[in-house]
Amino acid sequence: MSDRRKVTVVGAGNVGATCAQVLATRDYAGVVLVDIKEGLPQGKALDVNQMGAVLGYEPNVVGSNSYEETAGSTVVVITAGLPRSPGMSRDDLVSTNEKIVGSVTEQVVAQSPDAILIVVSNPLDAMCHVARNVSGLPKERVFGMAGILDTARFSTFIAWETGSSVKDVQATVLGGHGDQMVPVVSATTVGGVPLRKLVSEERIQSMVERTAKGGGELVNLLGTSAWYAPGAAAAQMVDSIMLDEKRVLPCTAYLEGEYGIDGLYMGVPVKLGSRGIEQIVELDLSDDERAALQASSEAVREVVGVLTT
Ligand code: NAI
Ligand code: 2OP
Repeated sequence: MSDRRKVTVVGAGNVGATCAQVLATRDYAGVVLVDIKEGLPQGKALDVNQMGAVLGYEPNVVGSNSYEETAGSTVVVITAGLPRSPGMSRDDLVSTNEKIVGSVTEQVVAQSPDAILIVVSNPLDAMCHVARNVSGLPKERVFGMAGILDTARFSTFIAWETGSSVKDVQATVLGGHGDQMVPVVSATTVGGVPLRKLVSEERIQSMVERTAKGGGELVNLLGTSAWYAPGAAAAQMVDSIMLDEKRVLPCTAYLEGEYGIDGLYMGVPVKLGSRGIEQIVELDLSDDERAALQASSEAVREVVGVLTT
């Protein structure tokens, strides 16, 4: 492996391999892909490396079934665990994925005690609690990916509805990564124009609902959960940390009073830089949005209450 700084992605399944692939194309870090399935991380790493000869990036991805190769990683993305099948909610995965995320966290932190952990495995908010409890790392260095994905879904629907470029849509989805997530319509603009000036309330509500149930829509189509947008969303968080971009992105952060929520992981806008979460950004929410965020936090607390870690 080269002398580049290292990013580890645990879980070489759909989301993990996509994240590793996007990071490889970004070409600033070495990427270590880990999975318990023999041959899978090695095979996907080899394939992604060979794609570099076509797309023009350096072949710096390593696949492994153990953690020695991950030593000294700057960032670790945890995607290990079961995905949803049709009819399953994210919360149905809690006990299986708690064991997986707990054991993965223990092993990555043993090799990379200074790493920043990005959790992707579901149920996302609860799995962030597991990673924080098991690692003992400060909250600035343990957080989750969900808001970028949920926001990407909302932004896509808005671009279609308004016939505008998705690049000019500015939206944010807050709250838990469940069907009670909160698309913040009051802060959503297209080219700087408030969404409510462009689209009827009825159409907005239908996009809000489709966003909140966006994961399920994909599970019904694919028979498993989505991976292209989720993998790219996790890679965007890695970029902001590794390149110290200080992007303000919706991520799942441990709240201690912000937004009136205490002792819970929830999706909020944060500034991400080389130290991890460098600031939690507090938006002015409407009364309805604040109440919806509260309801979403109660749903998250229920799942967190089932954890044994
Ligand atoms: P997948 O089944 O394609 O891949 C999961 C991989 O984890 C498999 O290759 C499996 O062998 C591996 N794995 C299982 N136990 C392991 C362990 N102890 N150590 C290392 N690897 C292990 O699933 P997919 O689609 O990649 O999803 C991964 C997780 O991410 C799921 O829990 C899914 O629900 C979640 N997810 C979360 C999203 C979010 O927004 N936070 C979005 C999409 C998926
Ligand atoms: C998603 O939202 C299931 O969390 C996964 O696609």
